[in-house]
Amino acid sequence: MKLDFPRYSERLGAVSIHAVQRIYELDSGKSKGFLSSHQTIKKFDYDEISNVLHDLAIVIPLKNEKLKLLEGVLSGIPNECLVIIVSNSSRSPVDRFAMEAEAIRQLGRFMDKRMVILHQQDWGLAEVLKKAGYASILDEDGRIRSGKAEGMVLGLMFAKMYNKDYVGFIDSDNYVPGAVNEYVKIFAAGFGMSNTPYCNVRISWVFKPKVRNNSLQFSKWGRVSEVTNRNLNSLLASITGFETEVIKTGNAGEHALSMPLAECLHYSSGYSIECNEFIDIFEKFGGVLPSAYPHAMDKGVEIFQIETRNPHFHEDKGAAHLTEMVEASLGVIERSAICPDELRKIILEQLGRKEEKNSRKALKKYHVMDPINTVDMAVFEKGVKEKADTLVKHGGLK
Ligand code: GDD
Ligand code: MG
Repeated sequence: MKLDFPRYSERLGAVSIHAVQRIYELDSGKSKGFLSSHQTIKKFDYDEISNVLHDLAIVIPLKNEKLKLLEGVLSGIPNECLVIIVSNSSRSPVDRFAMEAEAIRQLGRFMDKRMVILHQQDWGLAEVLKKAGYASILDEDGRIRSGKAEGMVLGLMFAKMYNKDYVGFIDSDNYVPGAVNEYVKIFAAGFGMSNTPYCNVRISWVFKPKVRNNSLQFSKWGRVSEVTNRNLNSLLASITGFETEVIKTGNAGEHALSMPLAECLHYSSGYSIECNEFIDIFEKFGGVLPSAYPHAMDKGVEIFQIETRNPHFHEDKGAAHLTEMVEASLGVIERSAICPDELRKIILEQLGRKEEKNSRKALKKYHVMDPINTVDMAVFEKGVKEKADTLVKHGGLK
């Protein structure tokens, strides 16, 4: 893969947010060194990408998607990666999870891939989490809460259990396996470029095509991402004093974290998770609030935003869903301790709420989950083996 070095970067304390980077070649062949001495282009050969993939787990959150789509997504993930599928699909009247598990079993034989699938409502797993000190993912009845973020956090814990250094997230409703393959390679390239163990790689889509008047329109920004990015940039500007447009990936569902960074972040539930990653990184390492992580402050945190070559085609989930996503994203910016009052007011106006206390009430549904470095991993690992009934492993995984 050949891509440019970041054209510019914004700094906030120990955090570097790199501007969007373009890819010049999806595949730049086997390494023979550069023909000319380019200083602006970074090239990764097969081996360099493959080395990272060996240490990378791909977590796929899944809820009632078409099996054909899931199959396509799996076919796009390079064989070296460990695949962790966390399903919250319905179990009755039709047991969709059983269908998924069966599909994975069959595909696993052909793909010879290391894959794990489990269900989010696994009672045994819920008990294990409680015992391992991770109650913040549970509801009042002791069940694992529903939500995409909760599924992602479970995936993170399994990636840690399997000693992975990096974790990437890819939605299961992707129509184009080639795009999935590109996302994974972008994750690897981002980690390969990073100068610190604390790294976040976010996908910026070149286009998100929509059908309008019977023809394909290659739109660049969705309504949600435009609003989220604008407000995240305003937050950044309010702290640094300089206006900026550097953030373009506030809602990037497809993104990846190095384990040292993933372990110390708080996670916000549902669809607020991606935007909240920015907020949490700024709060923890941005130098505005005191940091509990001196090692990361010393090494720095890097955020890469890399633009795909493949357009993004995924399932259309309707307008109400988009409204919910705007609310989730703006909500987590507004509730942050580093959000200045002026921006808070502007956000409340955008959300159509006059009273701050109403907003607080609405925000309650975005639960905050503790960092996974609070989980007792020995208890988790032993408990998972004994109690997680829905967990199925393939490809010789222990
Ligand atoms: N495990 C689990 N649990 N997975 C879930 C759940 C859940 O409760 N809810 C949804 N998912 C899965 C879906 O099956 C899909 O694979 C993925 O999470 C994303 O959910 P979608 O409902 O398809 O979200 P979206 O396409 O509107 O939004 C996606 O892209 C946005 C950026 O454009 C999400 O990834 C957003 O978080 C992201 O901001
Ligand atoms: Mg989707």
